[in-house]
This record gives sequence, C-alpha cells and structure tokens, in this order.
Amino acid sequence: MSTLRILIGCTGSIGAINLPQYVMELKKIECEIKLILTEESSRFVQPLVMECLVDDVYTDELQANKSAPFHIELASWCDVMLILPITANSMGKAAAGIADNVLLSTLIACDKPVIMVPNMNEKMWHSRIVQRNVETLKSLDMIVIPPTIQETYIASEKAYKTTLGMLQPKQLLHMLENSVHLEKEIIN
Ligand SMILES: Cc1cc2nc3c(=O)[nH]c(=O)nc-3n(C[C@H](O)[C@H](O)[C@H](O)COP(=O)(O)O)c2cc1C
Repeated sequence: MSTLRILIGCTGSIGAINLPQYVMELKKIECEIKLILTEESSRFVQPLVMECLVDDVYTDELQANKSAPFHIELASWCDVMLILPITANSMGKAAAGIADNVLLSTLIACDKPVIMVPNMNEKMWHSRIVQRNVETLKSLDMIVIPPTIQETYIASEKAYKTTLGMLQPKQLLHMLENSVHLEKEIIN
C-alpha cells in the first residue's frame, strides 16, 4: 500500500488521554498523520506531546491567527479521516451539520472515508439522542465503530473498569487497513 494519509480529529473525551498509543500503533504502517484537536480535547491531550508524534497539529487557536482557513486543504489532503475519540457533543453537531470549529468544518468538507470512534459513558451511548445521531451519521456513509466491552478508564471513578469503551489500538489498525482497502475496491 502507498503512504496512507490519515487525518485524525480528536475531541474532548477521557479516551483522548490514550491518543499517543493509538498514533504509535498506526505508525506501524506506512502513513503520514495530521491531527486536529478541538479546544476541549486539548485539556486531555497535550498539543506539544502530539507534535512529537504526528506530522502536523491543528487547533482552533492556531486557525484564529491565520487568514487562510485550514479545513479545505486538510480535507483534500487526507485519504481517510478518523475521529478518535468522538464525543456525544461532536457527534450531535456533526449529525446536525454544525461546523463551529476546525474539526467539524473539515468533516463537512471531507469527501473521503470517515471513521468515527465514539467514547462515552454507557448511559450516554445508549440514549435515544446519541443513537439517533449514530443512525443519521451512518445514513451519511460515515463508519461509526460502536464501543465494545473493554478495560476502560472511567474518569468519574478514577479507575479502569470492564465496560463499554473504544476498540484497542491494534484493533483500530486492523479495522483501518480493512476499511480503506474495502473503500479502494469499491472505488475501483
Ligand atoms: C473529565 C471529563 C471527561 C469527559 N469524557 C467524555 C467522554 O468520554 N465522552 C463524551 O462524550 N464527553 C465527555 N466529556 C464531556 C465533553 O468534554 C464535552 O461535551 C465537551 O463539550 C466536548 O467538546 P468537543 O466535542 O468539542 O471536543 C467529558 C468531560 C469531562 C470534564
């Protein structure tokens, strides 16, 4: 496979604390990675740490000081957009077509495969509102990877619990390779 250009969008879920591990796993394949952080995600993952791991990091703060917007260029650059983790908030905004930050504007401009990895409390995940938004996003051809039973860090309990959580870094790599491969087969 030629170099895969992966655009990661990260939102403000506790799962964002593990983003470095996911990026390090993805780097086992030949890829370039650019990263968009929402303002809330920057409270969970340090932009400076991520700058050491990926090719470029984009934030709303950085955008605020530029005359040219990033989102069109980033959407054209990538082969696949991966939103990891995605919060209930960002899923709701995406389903409603809201574009009030760099990540969501890029998502709307993106005509490449989009993979979303939700991470949230079990009650939130099963709520009618979130499930309606998941169905809307799926109907728009976004791939939504549902959380499964995992050893997951629970912020409110400051402990790992066996409960719904994001797929593990190795599973993500496997799934990404398969979905991009499938997409290429469909296009060809
Ligand atoms: C400690 C903490 C952990 C959080 N974890 C999650 C989470 O796992 N999933 C989620 O949907 N929201 C979570 N939130 C709420 C989001 O941070 C909040 O909805 C935020 O507005 C999301 O912004 P964003 O989607 O623009 O990144 C958490 C909030 C706090 C304070």
